[in-house]
Amino acid sequence: MEKKDRMIQLFKPSYDEREIEAVAEVLGTGWTGLGPKTSLFENAFAEFCSTKYCVGLSNGTAALQMALKLLDIGPGDEVIVPAITFVATAHSVLNSGAVPVFSDICPITHNIDPAHAGQLVNGRTKAIIAVHLAGYPVDMDALRSVAKDLPLIEDCAHASGTIYKGKPAGSMGIAGCFSFHAVKNLSMGEGGALVTDRDDFNRRARRLRWLGIDRETWDRQNMDHSYWWEYQVDEAGTNCHMDDIHAAIGLVQLQKLEAANNRRREIAKSYCAGLEDIQEVSLPPMETEDLRSSMHMYRIQAENRDELNLYMGKRGISTGVHYKPLHLYSCYGPQPSLPVAEKAFDRILTLPMHAELTDDHVSEVIDSVRSFYHG
Ligand SMILES: Cc1ncc(COP(=O)(O)O)c(C=O)c1O
Repeated sequence: MEKKDRMIQLFKPSYDEREIEAVAEVLGTGWTGLGPKTSLFENAFAEFCSTKYCVGLSNGTAALQMALKLLDIGPGDEVIVPAITFVATAHSVLNSGAVPVFSDICPITHNIDPAHAGQLVNGRTKAIIAVHLAGYPVDMDALRSVAKDLPLIEDCAHASGTIYKGKPAGSMGIAGCFSFHAVKNLSMGEGGALVTDRDDFNRRARRLRWLGIDRETWDRQNMDHSYWWEYQVDEAGTNCHMDDIHAAIGLVQLQKLEAANNRRREIAKSYCAGLEDIQEVSLPPMETEDLRSSMHMYRIQAENRDELNLYMGKRGISTGVHYKPLHLYSCYGPQPSLPVAEKAFDRILTLPMHAELTDDHVSEVIDSVRSFYHG
């Protein structure tokens, strides 16, 4: 079979003239850096997450690194992370100087297994990172009960719109770390944010995101002109703040988010109806009233995954594998085996999921999986 020249994309951002106009407006003002649009986005996103604060950052990795820094995590410390997540989660721990300790996962959700995570806690453990994988919420109550007083950091890169027992993702841990990368539910091209209720974290993160400088240029612009150039630097930070161009895109995307996530949920229901009778395929966990997924990804578990992947590709359908268990990467050094994650890895396949998929696309994906198994 010849590969089709038109692919059904795995992920795709949805932009239209509203984002273009929002960017044009910022360019027209002449202020494109950290400034008023970033503040507007921060206020709106904090409200969306039901948190006191949102600190706009350059990407989700910066948000994770910031959360670890705010907790003063460094050499000699350990942080527990789930085995199945993007490398950014564990790299952030490594880059803080601490050691990522990999927990096995729950067999159905593939989120961190609280029971196993609890067994890994020791005197060096300084935090646990809960990744709401694919947008499906981590069992935060179970994780909290094993973590006891340890801080929980939420990796919400997939979770713009995820809700656990009425609480938005990002509002349950000590800090929530979001990514607004191109293919995320809320897409800015690149961007991230740390949300928190902690006043001290908010104040420190605002300085650390801009090299430790205590007063942002925009604020200094707007003060009286005596010593307007003066600022203090008590702690060295990095340069990882959001800027007004990305924030302007984010403000539009935030308005569209609920409708886009609802479209994702509709697509998930169609996939479920079209695939549930295929014995060789297991479907992702269903939403309940208490557990609302942002449906960032639609991950199935499939027999003969590699052949299915090739078959879909030849029919013009992009698929992916999210993710190879992190403990299998050499950069983390020798690691104990994690049987649930390793077993899952052989079977996971991500099907196309984004708000621009048409019903015809969805039918094509379903027909392709069906014809692979049933001819
Ligand atoms: C689970 C997870 N955490 C963190 C990140 C990092 O986000 P960013 O790419 O914005 O740095 C990603 C990005 O894909 C992710 O999937």
